Amino acid sequence: MTAVSPIATALPDLVLRAFAPEHIPGAMRLSQEAGWPHRAEDWALTLSVSQGVVALHDGEIVGTALCSIFGDVALINMIIVDARMRGQGLGRKLMQAVLELAGTRELRLTATTDGRPLYEKLGFEVTGEILQHQGIALSDDPELPVVEGDAQGIAAMDLAAGGSDRAALLTHIAERGTVLRAEGGFALLRDFGRGQVLGPIVARDAATARALLSGAATRAEGSFLRVDLADPALAEHATRLGLAHVGGGTAMMKGAAPAATSEYTTYALASQALG
Ligand SMILES: CC(C)(COP(=O)(O)OP(=O)(O)OC[C@H]1O[C@@H](n2cnc3c(N)ncnc32)[C@H](O)[C@@H]1OP(=O)(O)O)[C@@H](O)C(=O)NCCC(=O)NCCS
Repeated sequence: MTAVSPIATALPDLVLRAFAPEHIPGAMRLSQEAGWPHRAEDWALTLSVSQGVVALHDGEIVGTALCSIFGDVALINMIIVDARMRGQGLGRKLMQAVLELAGTRELRLTATTDGRPLYEKLGFEVTGEILQHQGIALSDDPELPVVEGDAQGIAAMDLAAGGSDRAALLTHIAERGTVLRAEGGFALLRDFGRGQVLGPIVARDAATARALLSGAATRAEGSFLRVDLADPALAEHATRLGLAHVGGGTAMMKGAAPAATSEYTTYALASQALG
């Protein structure tokens, strides 16, 4: 473990260190305290495509922050400060550390209500709302054919839709989950948190995205399914499939290049952390 940088907060005896797999149990304590459902495997997936820092106080992890670099885009995520230590500058310090890792890349994140004031102070701007839907999935006949397939070509569709190169992440998820394909789109279904999550959903149009959501709900019928919608066009359909709107987050960006027009749209995120 290497010390990343000295830390000057109101809190004494704090050090920042590079985030390593051995820090996951301590990080999970913080995410559980924040009410997030992440299992150790979910932290490990995010860490596998990220670098970051932990803050240690008397050997205990009291803060986390990760930066996931996808080509020219960096996702900032898993920013958590131990509830006993909030409001003393640690969140800002953690952000500064991961912003250094991001360099000059376009920055994106999904903010909670807690996080948004900090990100606004750091110059992030709101670009949209993420709608978290979840519940016990109901089966449905997709309005277009949906099949299980391989991961060939999905990274290119994802890059066209979101502008970030997530080939390594998508391969990692596809190897552990299910790739659903329709003519003109795909979606990934994997274990996460309390059950399964569907995301990303990338498609040429809303009808294709709805079909992919129906296909996933049918496969997950009777069990817990979550989807983080980046496009409200799917919200009504998700609700009809038993996935109620339970909250969400605010999509924010900093230093964004003008979005190129694309035939593909991201209808649901891989996760709030990874966009
Ligand atoms: C968000 C979070 C990391 C902030 O950590 P923190 O250590 O309390 O943040 P800081 O003390 O460094 O505050 C940073 C700045 O944001 C401001 N700020 C923080 N929370 C605020 C709030 N609720 N309302 C208004 N301003 C707020 C502070 O005033 C401070 O401004 P300053 O640096 O100009 O003085 C912390 O609240 C947390 O862990 N929340 C639960 C998990 C979570 O939601 N994380 C965000 C994920 S997107």
